[in-house]
Amino acid sequence: MVKTAKLVIDGRSYELPIVTGSEGEMAIDISGLRKNTGLITLDPGYANTGSCESNITFMDGEKGILRYRGIPVEQLAEHSTFVETAYLLINDELPTRKDLTRFSVMLNDHSLVHEDMRAFFENFPKRAHPMGILSSMVNALRAFYPELRERTDEEEINITFARLLSKVRTLAAMSYKISLGHKVVYPSHKLSYCANFLNMMFDSPVRPYIIDQELVKALEVFWILHADHEQNCSTAAVRLVGSARVNLYAAISAGISALWGPLHGGANQAVVEMLKGISDSGGDPAPFLSRARDKNDPFRLMGFGHRVYKTYDPRARIMKKTCNKILKTLKRKDPLLDVAWRLEEAAVKDPYFIDHNLYPNVDFYSGIVLRAIGIPLDMFTVMFAIGRLPGWISQWKESIEDPKWKLHRPRQIYLGSREKNYIPIEDRGKDPTSKPRS
Ligand code: ACO
Repeated sequence: MVKTAKLVIDGRSYELPIVTGSEGEMAIDISGLRKNTGLITLDPGYANTGSCESNITFMDGEKGILRYRGIPVEQLAEHSTFVETAYLLINDELPTRKDLTRFSVMLNDHSLVHEDMRAFFENFPKRAHPMGILSSMVNALRAFYPELRERTDEEEINITFARLLSKVRTLAAMSYKISLGHKVVYPSHKLSYCANFLNMMFDSPVRPYIIDQELVKALEVFWILHADHEQNCSTAAVRLVGSARVNLYAAISAGISALWGPLHGGANQAVVEMLKGISDSGGDPAPFLSRARDKNDPFRLMGFGHRVYKTYDPRARIMKKTCNKILKTLKRKDPLLDVAWRLEEAAVKDPYFIDHNLYPNVDFYSGIVLRAIGIPLDMFTVMFAIGRLPGWISQWKESIEDPKWKLHRPRQIYLGSREKNYIPIEDRGKDPTSKPRS
């Protein structure tokens, strides 16, 4: 039986269908609301709004569950690779050995970037943030690889996906090398996706980079955990911009710009800056917790809280484990890890944080993992962007294939001036009641 909700406005009642998802979550379908009632819904920040139906990622914020195409993220982090997870997200199933080989060969074939793109890098100001550079470069890819047309065959679409996944990684490493004034390292067909990235970042003619499989595994986990997160801010941006039927590069570039913000992907950089701040001021987290509680202080505890998770973010749990493991294996100490532990310990006991359901999110420990790998601070959000690419691509693909596809165009409640007349410039600022001087 189809469930419905009843809405009563001025004594008139309307039946609204209820849609039930495969995990039992329910939504009231209001797509006919304005047509039937003349009213719209108002939901700032879309906290109660489902913008699409999706088969890609399931998350339960109360129970702390995250699954890609039904598979728990914990299992993927333990057994899968980033490339295999990307294939899963984009194609809705785990690849066979043959599929995976074909996909890996495609990533290898499309890993080089046009040499002319170097000129772009060389002309950015030296202090430009890598996220701004990355979003511009991804948009520029369209000029170099314009083949993806509106209606196109599957093979062509798959090549564009491979180009993005592979070239964005190359561009990120290139931008780092160029920022140092060093020679760019080219991708190698002999290395896996993650090992290739580390090699492009850190190999040098005077100091060959020795690939450590523990670091490669940590990077695989980092990228798997970031690969998708249903309708978060940057993915919603990709879907919204994509809904205007722009090319995929432009939609992904919009996602990168959204991710840059400190309330979203930029939080991983902000967490490390905050932990350094605590460490530099003596290591006591108490004053920072008290600032976070203070309503008159805009300071927030970075890496804490989430729009959907009202419990411990399952990704944060895995990230914390990875962080401990990698430092132990490398026999390294990171003073920021001690600060993070102390901060978490104090926050999870603090009534403000308990009452507001504020727990560590994925960004809380991820910065320490990235530091252990050797990634510089201003590249942290770029690392998140590379990881989120499979999610953006699969969500874009799903949205353009959706038979219910529509241009995204929210409405508003207008609170501005009522109609008034245009005033010629010479009459502006005059008392409207005063008579013109004769
Ligand atoms: N520190 C202190 N207080 C917080 C925090 C925090 N990190 N996060 C939320 N709150 C408080 C707010 O002050 C508000 O309190 P009030 O109800 O007493 O006024 C309440 O919790 C709800 O906050 P909102 O901003 O409405 O919640 P929202 O769901 O919009 O916030 C967000 C989610 C933006 C992630 C928020 O928790 C935050 O700013 N966290 C810090 C930044 C961060 O770590 N971002 C990464 C998120 S994960 C990701 O994008 C990959």
